[in-house]
Order: sequence, then C-alpha cells, then structure tokens
Amino acid sequence: MKFTYHNPTRLIFGAGTLAQLGTEARAYGKKALLVTGGGSIKRNGTFQRAVASLEQAGVSWAECSGVEPNPRLSTVKRGAGIAKEEGCDIVVALGGGSTMDAAKVMAAAVFYEGDPWDMMVHRGENRRKPERALPIVTIPTLAATGSEMNGGAVITDEATTVKSFVVAECLYPKVSVVDPELAASVPADQTAYGVCDLITHVTESYFNGVDGTPLQDRIAEGIIITAMEWGPKAVVNGHDVEARAQVQWASTVALMGVAQVGSNAAFPVHIIEHSLSAHHDIAHGAGLSIVSPAWMRFAARSRPERFAQFAQRIFGIPFQKDNAAEAAAEGIGRFEAFLRTIGCPTRLSEVGIGEELLERYAKDSLLIASDAEGRLPGRPPMSASDIVETLRSVL
Ligand code: NZQ
Ligand code: ZN
Repeated sequence: MKFTYHNPTRLIFGAGTLAQLGTEARAYGKKALLVTGGGSIKRNGTFQRAVASLEQAGVSWAECSGVEPNPRLSTVKRGAGIAKEEGCDIVVALGGGSTMDAAKVMAAAVFYEGDPWDMMVHRGENRRKPERALPIVTIPTLAATGSEMNGGAVITDEATTVKSFVVAECLYPKVSVVDPELAASVPADQTAYGVCDLITHVTESYFNGVDGTPLQDRIAEGIIITAMEWGPKAVVNGHDVEARAQVQWASTVALMGVAQVGSNAAFPVHIIEHSLSAHHDIAHGAGLSIVSPAWMRFAARSRPERFAQFAQRIFGIPFQKDNAAEAAAEGIGRFEAFLRTIGCPTRLSEVGIGEELLERYAKDSLLIASDAEGRLPGRPPMSASDIVETLRSVL
C-alpha cells in the first residue's frame, strides 16, 4: 500500500448551515455563477434562502439554471459562457450531483481553451486535464454522489451518448456547505438511488482494490452498515432529519477518498452504469442497483472469499473456506434484496432497457477504460462479452 492523500475541501456540516453560505462564499469571490437544477430548490425555498445569504454577505450572482440529471456538455458550455459574460469570479452549485458536477466543469471551462470534452477520460486518460478553475462552492441537496468533497465530475456528450468523467485537483470545492435538512424534499425513489450510489462507491474499491487494506475494508463496511441502517428510514420518512443527516454524511465520506485511498481500484460497475444512463437517461443510482449485484455475481466466481467476507461482515453469514462460494452468493442475494426493499430496480426491464444495445454498452464502457488486452479494468478485468453476459443476466 502506497499513496498520497490530499483533500483540500473545507466541510461545513449540519442542519441550518445553509445560512453560512454567504460568508463562506465571500471569502473566495464577489460575484457568483449560481448553478441550479430543474427547479426543486425553488419550490422548496432553498434557492431563496441561499440567495438571501449570498446577498447579505455582499455576493452578487448570475444564475445558470436547468442543469439536467446526467448533465450535458452543452449545459456546461452554456454555464461557462454565462460566467464569462457576467464576470463571475466564483461558482456556487446548489443541487444534486448533476448540478455540482456541471458547475465544477463550468468552473474549469472558463479558463479552458478548446472543447471541455477534452478534459474527460477516454481509454483511461485525459486528453488534457484541467489545471485551473474558478473557486467552487457546493451545497448538495441530495445525498448520493459525494461530489461535494471530491475532485470528480461526470458529464454526458449528448451528441455521441458517451458519459465520461474527470478527476482533477482544481475541481475540489473550496468549501462545501452540507445541510442535511435540504434533502427533506427528495422523493423516496431518488433517496433510495442515492443510498445505492453511496454504497457502490465503497463496494467498488472493496472488491476491486489491491489486497492488504484492512482499515479501508472496515471503513467501507462501516459506511455500508450505516447506509443500510439509516437509508431505509430516510426513504420511509423524508422529514426524518436524523436519518437524512446520517445518510448525507455517509455519502460524503463514501467518496471523499478515505475508503478508496491506497486501493488503486478501478470502478467497473460505474463505468458500465454510465453507459446505460448515457443512452437512457436513467438515474445513476437506479442503474447501479441493477448492474452492481450482477457484477458481484460475475466477480465472485473468481474471488469467492472476498465476497464471503462481505457476506459475513455485512449480513452475519458464517463461512469456511469450503463454502465461500455459497456464502458469497447468499450475501449478494441479501444485498440485492436490500436494494429491492428500499425501492431500487434490479432488472433492466424495470427501467425500460431491453437487449438491443448490450454490445453498444460494452463498447462504450471500453471506450472509457480498457487494459492492454482491451478489457475493462477491475478484479477480474471484463471482456466485452463478459459485460454483455453480465447485463444479459439481469434483463
Ligand atoms: O434538478 P432538480 O429539480 O433539483 O431535481 C433533482 C433531479 O430530478 C432532484 N433533487 C435534487 N435535490 C432535491 C431534488 N428533488 C427534491 N428535493 C431536493 N432537495 O433529484 C433528481 C436527481 O438529481 P441528480 O443531481 O441527477 O442526482 P444525483 O445527486 O444522484 O447525481 C447524479 C449524477 O452524478 C454523477 C452521476 O453519474 C449522475 O450524472 N456522479 C457523480 C460523481 C462525482 N462527481 O463524484 C460520482 C457518482 O458516482 C456519479 O457518477
Ligand atoms: Zn456513483
């Protein structure tokens, strides 16, 4: 295990912290590009409170509204254009992961010569990584992606229906104001998808990382158990502020790097899911809840002990070396059942996806990352036909 870890984001967490937005933002700029989604925050009053806080602190703003779920390249370009025209010196994202991701890439696109799509990863590499961005402040309104405390962003090029990501130092928010009360209005289905997303952020590194990371294993298990305890409460009663707080914190910790550090893990489930949401515009967490158990069944064939450990530590399923495969299968089944209990889909047909484009999803996944043998990195690596068969198993 060998690594460098640095997370520069200042995190302000807790119910009511939205009121601090203005003073926090004012430390970095005077005029904000205020990036927002499809309107939920205007209906629930969050937008009005955020604007009041900014104005009170002397921060003026220009809005880029309408960031769509699975944010598009054209939206990023539009936002960067507004920031330049309006002379914004800071970017404030108020919304879910889509809004935060779009805002991050807008902040970099302001300084970027050429097409912002070149920032994104293709075949495991950035054509040109962004090195500079306007200061970014994020206020998540939904617990899922962890974008509020990482340097990643995921964008779809709608012209080619390819969804890719960028990770860069300059994309870490300077400050994140994480007020779990803001998620009270998130509908039950999106809440459940967020729970699945945050769990998948740690299962990716748990199952695909290098051996010999026992502390990271325990961090991941703690996050999964916490999400499985508090997630259903937030799904059942969105106004349960305690449940919202625990899920929000779990989602931040799940992808702020501590669970992944030193693991050198590929994220195959994410890359496959991104190919689905790029084509069908489904919620990322819903796609993950279909792909993740299917991928686990595929990967458990080559490493049953690892999945038996997951079964034992998360679900209390006992195992010995000679019954690891059965314990692994039982654990994966229990995980899939949990996802169903909270209302997540586990079959492609539930989100309107058939078998027509299975090869295309495999091809698109390999376009984002592939090893020397043309396989999707992970443990084990997947050939195009492995991806097709894995998806076929959950039609
Ligand atoms: O746009 P509005 O009207 O706000 O509605 C949104 C949207 O319809 C709604 N919503 C958000 N906050 C709400 C709310 N509705 C009521 N009350 C609130 N407080 O929820 C819907 C989904 O929002 P979205 O931002 O798309 O969801 P999420 O946070 O799950 O973000 C998904 C995107 O993030 C990417 C995904 O690929 C996807 O594009 N990811 C980003 C990552 C990162 N930057 O680190 C990592 C993830 O693995 C993921 O890939
Ligand atoms: Zn995710």
